[in-house]
Amino acid sequence: MQDAPAEKFIIDGLGGKKTLSGSIRISGAKNAALKLMAASALFDGPITLTNVPKIEDVKRMEGILESSGAAVSFFGDNSLKIDPRKMRSGEMPEEISKRLRASIVATGPFLARFGSVSFPHPGGCVIGARPIDLFLLGFQKMGARVSVEKRGNKDAYVIRAGAGKLRGAEIFFKNQSVTATETFMMAAALAHGKTTIKNAAMEPEIAHLAEFLSRGGARIKGAGTTTIEVDGTGGEFLRAGGEPFAVMPDRIEAGSFLILGALAARELSITGCNPAHLESLIEILAEAGVQMKIGAAEITVRGKKIGIPKAYGAVSVKTHEYPGFPTDLQAPMVVFLTQAKGESTIFETIFEGRLSYAEQLSRMGASIEALDTHRVRVKGPSPLSGKILESPDLRAGLAFVIASIIAKGESVVHNVYNIDRGYEDLDGRLSKIGVSIRRVAA
Ligand code: UD1
Repeated sequence: MQDAPAEKFIIDGLGGKKTLSGSIRISGAKNAALKLMAASALFDGPITLTNVPKIEDVKRMEGILESSGAAVSFFGDNSLKIDPRKMRSGEMPEEISKRLRASIVATGPFLARFGSVSFPHPGGCVIGARPIDLFLLGFQKMGARVSVEKRGNKDAYVIRAGAGKLRGAEIFFKNQSVTATETFMMAAALAHGKTTIKNAAMEPEIAHLAEFLSRGGARIKGAGTTTIEVDGTGGEFLRAGGEPFAVMPDRIEAGSFLILGALAARELSITGCNPAHLESLIEILAEAGVQMKIGAAEITVRGKKIGIPKAYGAVSVKTHEYPGFPTDLQAPMVVFLTQAKGESTIFETIFEGRLSYAEQLSRMGASIEALDTHRVRVKGPSPLSGKILESPDLRAGLAFVIASIIAKGESVVHNVYNIDRGYEDLDGRLSKIGVSIRRVAA
């Protein structure tokens, strides 16, 4: 798979002025679309997804499905048809899988369809150690054997289901893992017998995936809670042919734009979102003094405060599994807190090494002190000034774009491909609400 050409964003900051206005529409969720795409391997015919974001990670998942023999095609604006009938192999290509952490979710459906799967240690964002022990242990519980074998001159994990069949099992996750929960829900959907997943993650993308699988005949109870029961079909594929399935709105994108609006907009409407998925952020921003109007599928945020005091108040934040504060909004939240009055502590509880981007915000003028690998203390408000920044991962990349928009002067954000991995046409959409942002060759 070809790398996208190296590009950078050049952003002229507003210097603290709140001038953005209009509305910005939320795309389909990356973290939902990738799983729905992987689930295509469980079906007996073509499936159609709508509201699929056109982003790099979706292209990578397309590559994984195609190399297995599936026919994948985009049509219209954001619709995607996947025909799994010619899928032949559970060998996941090393070069793509290594660059997509979410490739791990394809192991469940591939193992269910082919009885075996091979894959390299998956890649993705560089945010601390991202182990796969829960996956290997879970597959063993379902009666599979795990080995490490040479594929070419590289090591690959090879999982083989006993006699080609996965059997239902009791699986307890020592950590709540989003992708592990989804992977085992999919593997169990076609297994022989009943699977119970305990300490399952509760992110909305999981219930969404369960809804999609259930439409094809999967028997799943409890998705969205910590105990999920799946009564396997005993090897029968799920039935394709239902209505196109619309990918749910991206709650991380919506939350990031809400923060942007609070910091830089006169008034900004975030449309096509699901505010119910953003309760923790909305609660915290309201506590800090952000004025929001919440509709059924829209949030309007007014950055220009009416009344005194004008600065937002500091609030401490701890990331947590859903419904707690999402780790994927931690970096944009730190940018918000650089502009809030007082002292706040941010405690990243899910991943290690996911605060290293903060040093680049300090160079912009933020007062951020690292307390340990999981916590930083922010003192605000501090005016930021434009700088040359390197986007380390997609979520911190968007946080740098937000910081550059509020800063004084010009910023350059390198590694735009990291941002394109997760956000469709970010520069185009931001331009429409008044951001001065240009994409140029790096
Ligand atoms: C998913 C999201 C990512 C988000 C994260 C946490 C996708 C494609 N990505 O990532 O955007 O930041 O959830 O909300 O949906 N763990 C283990 N062993 C394993 C797997 C995970 O110990 O085998 C640990 C991880 O180190 C981490 C915790 O479980 O501490 C949660 O990670 P997990 O939910 O698995 O993250 P992802 O599913 O990779």
